[in-house]
Amino acid sequence: MLLKPYKLAVLVSGNGSNLQAIINSIERKELDAHLSIVISNTKNAPAMVRAEKHGIETIFIDPANYSNRKSYDQALIDKLKVASIDLICLAGYMRILGEEFILNFSRKIINIHPSLLPAFPGLNAQKQAIEYGVKFSGCTVHFVDAGVDSGPIILQTAVPVYDNDCEESLSKRILRQEHYLYPKAIAMIIENKFNLNGRTVTSNKA
Ligand code: GAR
Repeated sequence: MLLKPYKLAVLVSGNGSNLQAIINSIERKELDAHLSIVISNTKNAPAMVRAEKHGIETIFIDPANYSNRKSYDQALIDKLKVASIDLICLAGYMRILGEEFILNFSRKIINIHPSLLPAFPGLNAQKQAIEYGVKFSGCTVHFVDAGVDSGPIILQTAVPVYDNDCEESLSKRILRQEHYLYPKAIAMIIENKFNLNGRTVTSNKA
């Protein structure tokens, strides 16, 4: 009997280098998943071109066509339900998801954020890190809850912050690590190699 493929959706807004890392991991068979759809809230996002090059279905849901967050989120929910998605990966998705969306996909939404959470949530995390003067920053993959970048942490990688760093140089160093970290966290979830206790995620390699 054939097992049902694990279905992923990736939500994007911009360049899509994390999306590319996920696509590459699937194509290299490091991730046993089917990337069913890529959804964007921005028109002509380079991420969409990346997906199309790999024959992946893309959907642009234009916020201008919806009068409020609730109706926008409902359109998103409908697309994801029709596609029977198992895991929703936010990859540079720069739009806040409402509580109803989160409730619909409890523990099925993950995000990658360019800081060592809980430090520097929200926008411009790398700039926040430089301005604060931290000596290490990094990236975090976490479950998405109703707060801003506040859900249970799945995996993190630290990188050094050097004296001569600017936002751009730090962002590049962090992004390189994101491309390893995100597929690794997705694999942990697909293979069910984690335990979630309260807000603590531990790996369960047995
Ligand atoms: C990444 O650095 C990601 O961590 C960040 O946006 C960038 C997207 O790059 N996400 C956030 O800041 C979310 N709060 P990409 O489009 O090349 O994957």
